[in-house]
Amino acid sequence: MVLAGLTAMSVAACGGGSGGSGGSGGTGGDAITMGFSQVGAESGWRTANTKSVQDSAKNAGITLKFSDAQQKQENQIKAIRSYIQQKVDIIAFSPVVESGWDTVLKEAKDAKIPVILTDRAVDSKDTTLYKTFLGSDFIEEGKKAGQWLVEEYKSSADPVKIVELQGTTGSAPANDRKSGFADVIKAETKFQIVASQTGDFTRAKGKEVMEAFLKSNPDIDVLYAHNDDMGLGAIEAIEGAGKVPGKDIKIITVDAVKDGMQALADGKINYIVECSPLLGPQLMDLAKKVVKGEQVPARVVTEETTFTQEQAKQVLSTRQY
Ligand code: AHR
Repeated sequence: MVLAGLTAMSVAACGGGSGGSGGSGGTGGDAITMGFSQVGAESGWRTANTKSVQDSAKNAGITLKFSDAQQKQENQIKAIRSYIQQKVDIIAFSPVVESGWDTVLKEAKDAKIPVILTDRAVDSKDTTLYKTFLGSDFIEEGKKAGQWLVEEYKSSADPVKIVELQGTTGSAPANDRKSGFADVIKAETKFQIVASQTGDFTRAKGKEVMEAFLKSNPDIDVLYAHNDDMGLGAIEAIEGAGKVPGKDIKIITVDAVKDGMQALADGKINYIVECSPLLGPQLMDLAKKVVKGEQVPARVVTEETTFTQEQAKQVLSTRQY
């Protein structure tokens, strides 16, 4: 648990070694300037992630140029182009969606500015367009959610009606959390996903979509929300409909931010799969290595856990975010 948020390395091949920044926007010598394009401020997770990146840059002595894309890919592309023009030493970004990055990543590569993907993946076939990808295994998170459900209903053969609040359409966490969960529950026909729609990872959208789900599906057993914020919005909708969250409708979410953990400890959420936003320290370490031209792993996977209601009560007071 104490290790949650720290990260473990995995795997595969090594990223290209010629980190060799063509950037001259840094302040010279060992000084590094990083351009960072953040997705937005859609969730508690994102706020904690932004703080982690900003604090870690300061601690690592890295000059950070930060931009918030307000959940729009076009804004991220503009920001990356602007960082290329400014000749930063390294670019890091959390891609709002998986597709459509090849052109701008090629522009960065041609300008000899290395790129690190953080938090979310891209689906580019050409993996030389970025040096490494630091972040969670979202498929595994979806699987953990499904495994809890299978265990929870193991002694019942009755149908289990599930509604799903998906994250941002086309984003890696929405795609992967959906497929990981579906893979696990498909083994048993009693599990039926009766509605699945995006809530864009926000509390407001989570509430709105859950209200619609409740109107068209009067007998929902389970809500699977791809993040805490949508789950928290949905709780308001469930209470508004006169039902008891955590009892009448069991709720599984992903993230484990403080508000989510509070709702879990209060019995309104039943299970949370952790997704750690504390990526800043590792991002800065990787950036330093890449700029020096050192080899880095092609993939660095965040280590995370899961929480039951009892576990949430135990760790709530020490939760950092
Ligand atoms: O990419 C990580 C996801 O993005 C988090 O789970 C969600 O809360 C955020 O908006």
